[in-house]
Amino acid sequence: MKQTITIKVDPQQPDTKQIQAAADIIKKGGLVAFPTETVYGLGADALNPKAVSNLFKAKKRPTDNPPIIHVENTNTIHTLAEQVPPKADTLMKKFWPGPLTLVFKRSKNVPDVTVAGLDTVAIRMPQHNVALALIRESNCPIAAPSANLAGKPSPTTAEHVLKDLNGRIDAILDAGPTRIGVESTVLDLSVDPPVVLRPGGTPVEALKQVLGEVKLHPFVAAEKELTVEKTRSPGMKHTHYAPKAQLIVVEGDITVVMATIKLLITQYWFQDKRVGVLATAETAWAYEADVVKSLGSRRKVDVIAANLFRLLREFDEENVDVIISESVSTEGLGLAVMNRLRKASGYNIIKVGQP
Ligand code: TXA
Ligand code: MG
Repeated sequence: MKQTITIKVDPQQPDTKQIQAAADIIKKGGLVAFPTETVYGLGADALNPKAVSNLFKAKKRPTDNPPIIHVENTNTIHTLAEQVPPKADTLMKKFWPGPLTLVFKRSKNVPDVTVAGLDTVAIRMPQHNVALALIRESNCPIAAPSANLAGKPSPTTAEHVLKDLNGRIDAILDAGPTRIGVESTVLDLSVDPPVVLRPGGTPVEALKQVLGEVKLHPFVAAEKELTVEKTRSPGMKHTHYAPKAQLIVVEGDITVVMATIKLLITQYWFQDKRVGVLATAETAWAYEADVVKSLGSRRKVDVIAANLFRLLREFDEENVDVIISESVSTEGLGLAVMNRLRKASGYNIIKVGQP
């Protein structure tokens, strides 16, 4: 166990001395959790193999699942990537800094452990002054997976990070809750046409507008577990976002979804189970269960995305045996929300009457 220092910083204008204190830890090969616009990341010097190997240990992350490398200016990517196709320039101009991770053929400068032995590297420029200042002061690209224990929902507050990693990391920069709440979209540019490997904060529709043709990896909209052979992004095959309780996702027309959830509540009550429902602002009133939580209005999918991981974590404190969740449309950020919910449920999905 080490002592984890919490450094409270202003999200817009972080104090330089505080950022320097955190950057000193990164420079010495330590681990610092920091906010981005999506979720909190756990940072280490991407070019220091020992530091990155400690990063995997702290998170208990399987070593075959590489982290994303965070940069604060676009020039750095040329030292990390071997080939940067022209499409990348267009994407970086439009979406960086922001929730879009680009996968390139890797340069030999990047240690094997940082890319988990792959021949590609995933890079993004976060849109958060604290993250950008930390990378600048550390004077190195920062490898940062989400700052949760492997398998848990990604952290959207410093409290979530400490719950999982207190005593396992050197410091955390606490700048309050993150804005977007789901992780970045991961786009593979090492192939053509580009392939979305993980839906996230940048909607696929926005990528299509810029690129024309974009493919979705089968995992993106998967409604059941796919075999490992189809895996291109290693993270796809690992357990993810799982709350303690069994999660069931009910998908389809909302009135039929509601009726189905009510029926399921009665069935679980009959088995003496404690039941939670993950509902929305328009529907939460209708359920009688042990715990009912609302993700927000169905008309504001950005709010739903921002609340999702926090609510999954809150259910862990409620000692429910089962959580039954509504679903949302897969348009825009909804695709990322449904991808996370389906994975969190271990693809325990009930399909009812389609809209
Ligand atoms: O928003 C985010 O992306 C957050 C913040 C902290 O930036 N980071 C994040 O990192 O979600 P992580 O490590 O939890 O997820 C990274 C994803 C994993 O699914 C991983 O498999 C994939 O990116 N990935 C990393 N390197 C890759 C590569 N070379 N090729 C394909 N996928 C890669
Ligand atoms: Mg993660």
